[in-house]
Amino acid sequence: MVKLAPSILSANFAALLDDVLKAEEAGAEYLHIDVMDGHFVPNITIGPLVVEALRPRSGMLFDVHLMIEKPELYVEQFIKAGADLVTVHVETTPHLHRVLAMIKEKGALAGVALNPSTPHGAVEYVLHLVDLVLVMTVNPGFGGQSFIPEVLPKIKAIKNMLSEKGLNAEIQVDGGVNRDTAAAVVQAGATVLVAGSAIFGKGDIIAAVREIREAASSNSY
Ligand code: DX5
Ligand code: ZN
Repeated sequence: MVKLAPSILSANFAALLDDVLKAEEAGAEYLHIDVMDGHFVPNITIGPLVVEALRPRSGMLFDVHLMIEKPELYVEQFIKAGADLVTVHVETTPHLHRVLAMIKEKGALAGVALNPSTPHGAVEYVLHLVDLVLVMTVNPGFGGQSFIPEVLPKIKAIKNMLSEKGLNAEIQVDGGVNRDTAAAVVQAGATVLVAGSAIFGKGDIIAAVREIREAASSNSY
């Protein structure tokens, strides 16, 4: 079954815990936490303190998406704060292999992310190290942007690369995922769907999670 990863970027930060608990009650498996530094992406969000504050309140898998330069400087802090999975962008470090190995060594699951314009080959030689490949279907930095359909073949290409190598990492898709786009990304090979505005931007979080899950299992795209 496809897993859902509500992104708190679109949650109500004045009542963050309420929104997180509703997503959990709705059956979401991951809690997607977007960390931005104002350098790699033109926005600033949250740091390890927020992860640490939420950690004792939720049993969801804490999925920390680092959109920061020099991720190697912060990986350990996020894991100590309670991250279960730490994902770093290919574009943020010349030492991707080393950072991914560091994440595993510190005891977390490791993910690698690709911007829409980054080719799938960029992760070929680290695939054996990762538990998840994150395919961005918007340019990272903001919630509520439109899905870029030209990225769909990249999801398929990563799926093929994983099966050729006999690996079974999750394929996570992030950006513009909603009830209209969910089926297409799942058909392409996505196993974990991130959704921010489509879940927290609506009045009813529980209904929104259900709606995306239903759309993800339909073939109606
Ligand atoms: C964007 C973030 C996403 C964002 C997705 O840089 O990585 O996780 O929250 O937002 P939506 O689902 O609204 O496109
Ligand atoms: Zn994200």
